[in-house]
Amino acid sequence: MTEKKQFRAIKGVRDILPPESAAWNRVEQTAREVFEAYGYGEIRLPIFEETELFARSVGAETDIVGKEMYTFQDQIVQEIVFLREYLRQSDVYYEPGLKALIRKVEEALTSAEIPKTEDNTRRLNRLRELSNSPVGPPQDKLRRQNVLYEIENMDLGPSNALRPEATASVCRAYIEHGMHTRPGNVKLYYIGPMFRRERPQKGRYRQFYQIGAEVLGQSDAPAIDAELVEMLLHFFARIGLGEGSAAGGVKPPLHAGAAGGDLKVAATGLTLFYNSIGCRECRPSYVAALKAALEKVKDKLGPDSQRRIEANPLRVLDSKVESEQAVIESLPRITDHLCPACHEHLAALKQQFALRGIEGTENWRLVRGLDYYTRTTFEITAPGLGSQNAVCGGGRYDGLVELLGGPPTKGIGFAIGTDRVMLSLAETGRLADTAACDVFVTWMGAAAQGHAIRLARKLRDAGFRVEVPAEEMKFRKSLDLANRMGARYALIIGENEIAAGRYALKRLADAVQKELTEGELLEFLSGDRVIG
Ligand code: HAM
Repeated sequence: MTEKKQFRAIKGVRDILPPESAAWNRVEQTAREVFEAYGYGEIRLPIFEETELFARSVGAETDIVGKEMYTFQDQIVQEIVFLREYLRQSDVYYEPGLKALIRKVEEALTSAEIPKTEDNTRRLNRLRELSNSPVGPPQDKLRRQNVLYEIENMDLGPSNALRPEATASVCRAYIEHGMHTRPGNVKLYYIGPMFRRERPQKGRYRQFYQIGAEVLGQSDAPAIDAELVEMLLHFFARIGLGEGSAAGGVKPPLHAGAAGGDLKVAATGLTLFYNSIGCRECRPSYVAALKAALEKVKDKLGPDSQRRIEANPLRVLDSKVESEQAVIESLPRITDHLCPACHEHLAALKQQFALRGIEGTENWRLVRGLDYYTRTTFEITAPGLGSQNAVCGGGRYDGLVELLGGPPTKGIGFAIGTDRVMLSLAETGRLADTAACDVFVTWMGAAAQGHAIRLARKLRDAGFRVEVPAEEMKFRKSLDLANRMGARYALIIGENEIAAGRYALKRLADAVQKELTEGELLEFLSGDRVIG
């Protein structure tokens, strides 16, 4: 008998149900509208890529690549690895295991699941020879070693990873499709899930969602950085998380005045932090100075920070450990080590912010957890989120495209953490309620069902969410269901209504009822439309 098992979503992942999903859609739709107004086009990217792509761009020493990626290989490669481990662990030469492994390698080479290289073919032939030569107990050890040597040196192809972020994929696609030949800057946005094996907590999930945007091209003009941030703040204002947005959800577009004064974010608890982390010219000497200073205070730091002194000293600045804060404040600051070009870039960025009325807080400790950044970095925090309060992070990554084998290219972008945005909207009472249903059509009698179906179609056509019970229900029961479903109106169709050519429309919140003709009904509902 099969065991009865109740499946649940696995740790760190979750379902987003209606009506919450409707609010998610509104936020994502707002991003599309705002970003497209700034000239961005959507790029739809794969959810998995070669692991190496992320290791090279995000950085092999980062937490994301070092311990949080979901990596996997194709099934057949996994089987080969399994058989290899099996052979390795049995301390005698094991003929059936080798035969099974040879069959798998042959299959994988034929179907090109592992690279069809000369070297792989040669190693397969060598395995065949070893398997066919006569077996004698004294040779077993050597034969086993030879088998393992061949299979361990076979190229089983790249491992894949669920994407932990999408900037690397955007750069890969930019190169793969020769997008540098497009006129002007290439401006792209993406919306979708990302995966990191982090310890789940409020605002931190293993499958989470980002809304991101990237600008790639030949220029690193600070106006590009500032316009990107301007766009971000417009987005936050539109969804109700910036200044000029009150409670009640997605707002109509903001029209910035000449001074762009509507982009002050602090008033609602949204804070923009920014920094410059220098470039390839000036950062190495700063990192060396920082490392030297850290070595001197090593014993005042906790184990995580101590480990980072060697692997990635900049990340020590990110520490939230209370007892380390005073020590960190006394460390050398990147701002004092910037080369003249980076210094100028940062000064011009501040001017560009001022031109747009953008108010942010410069924070020398904002180094971000990904290795590809140069110069401008920024983060936005929002209220109601506890420790995981960064709703957006981004920065410049000049040189990343080159690092991935493309032409010299400048780049800047950001990613908004949608889960955290939704949490912040909910916790600060800024989520507009979405009625699951605008009009619940209650009908009684065979003739009424036909009217109900026809009217429902018209109303749906006009954009209303309409429910029509599939089976006849008593009016009282049907009104009760409409109430429980949170419908705004009940449209009542019975024999009397059909005879009179007027339908009863009942507002469920206060039971106010109107008798309306079909034309009046559409007109009335359209006038009372709640954009939700
Ligand atoms: P990131 O700072 O790693 O940057 O992520 C951006 C945002 O994604 C964070 O601020 C946060 O809101 C959200 N986020 C990250 N991890 C989680 C998680 N485990 N659960 C929930 N939300 C999370 C990047 O990913 C860069 N690719 C951004 C970028 C684009 N830089 C340049 N272009």
